Amino acid sequence: MNDRNRHIIITGASRGFGRDLTRHLAENGTVLHLVARSEMSDLVLELEALGAKVHTWQQDLTQTDKLHILMTNIAAAIPADDVGYLGLINNAGMLDPVGPAGKYEYDSYKKNLEINFVAPLLLTHAFMELFQETGIVKRVVMISSGAAGKPYHGWSHYCSTKAGVDMFVRTVGIEQTRQRNPVEVMAFNPGRISTDMQEAIRSLNEDDFPMVHDFIAAWKEGRIGDSAEVAGRLARVMLAEFFPAGEILSHKDI
Ligand SMILES: NC(=O)c1ccc[n+]([C@@H]2O[C@H](COP(=O)([O-])OP(=O)(O)OC[C@H]3O[C@@H](n4cnc5c(N)ncnc54)[C@H](OP(=O)(O)O)[C@@H]3O)[C@@H](O)[C@H]2O)c1
Repeated sequence: MNDRNRHIIITGASRGFGRDLTRHLAENGTVLHLVARSEMSDLVLELEALGAKVHTWQQDLTQTDKLHILMTNIAAAIPADDVGYLGLINNAGMLDPVGPAGKYEYDSYKKNLEINFVAPLLLTHAFMELFQETGIVKRVVMISSGAAGKPYHGWSHYCSTKAGVDMFVRTVGIEQTRQRNPVEVMAFNPGRISTDMQEAIRSLNEDDFPMVHDFIAAWKEGRIGDSAEVAGRLARVMLAEFFPAGEILSHKDI
C-alpha cells in the first residue's frame, strides 16, 4: 500500500456495531467515510484523535433513489492517487415494524426492506461500478444476521432481507472470480450483540414477537455478545491478508 491511504465507507456508523467498528478501524493512514442519518461530530473528534481522517455523509438510506449519487459523491472524495485499499461495510439496519406480515402499515414495512436489502445491494452495485477496474484491494462486508437462516415470528421482512443479502454475497462471490481486479464481498453475522437494536427487541410485545422471553433470558444470563469486542474481530478480518470472499461468516467463525 506504500504511503497510500486506506479508505473505508461504513453505513450505520452513528450507533451500535457500526460505531464500534469505526473505533477499531481508526488509525493513521485511514480515511473513514461515515454514513447515517444523525449528525456525528462527537464521533468525528474521537476518531480524529485516534489518527484517522473522517468524512461524514448524512443520508437516510431508505431514500434509495439517492444512493447512486451518494456513492458517486463519496468516490469523488477518494482521490485515485491517494488510495491503496478500499472498503465498504454495509452495516445500517433496522428491525421495526415487528409483527406478523400484513399487520403494520405498508410504508414502515417498505422502509425495512429498503434499509436492510435494497440499500446495501444498491450501494455495493454502485461501489463495484465505480471501482471494479481499480487495481487495489477492494473489500465489501454485508452485516447479516442469524435470522437469515432461521424464521422468527414477527420478523418476516428482517429474516427475508438478511437471507437475500447472504445470497447476494454468494452470487457476487462467483461472479467476481472472473474479474481481473475482483471486489471481494463477504457477509458477517455478528450474533446477538449489546446495542440499541437488542435493547429494543427485549421491549417487544409477545403477540408480535413470541420469542421475546428467549431474548430477555439470554440478556439476563449474559449470553449477549459484546458489540465492541465482536467489532474488533471483524475489523481484523477486514484488514487481514486473507479475506473469505463469497462466504457467509458468523461471530463463531472468527
Ligand atoms: N444487535 C444485534 O443483536 C444484531 C444481531 C444480528 C445482526 N445485527 C445487524 O447489525 C447491524 C447493526 O445493528 P445495531 O445493533 O448496531 O443497530 P442499531 O444500534 O439500531 O444501529 C443502527 C445503525 O443504522 C443506522 N440506520 C438505521 N436506519 C437508517 C437509515 N434509514 N438510514 C441511514 N442509517 C440508518 C443508524 O443510524 P441513524 O439512526 O443515525 O441513521 C445506526 O447507526 C444491522 O445490520 C443489524 O441488522 C444486529
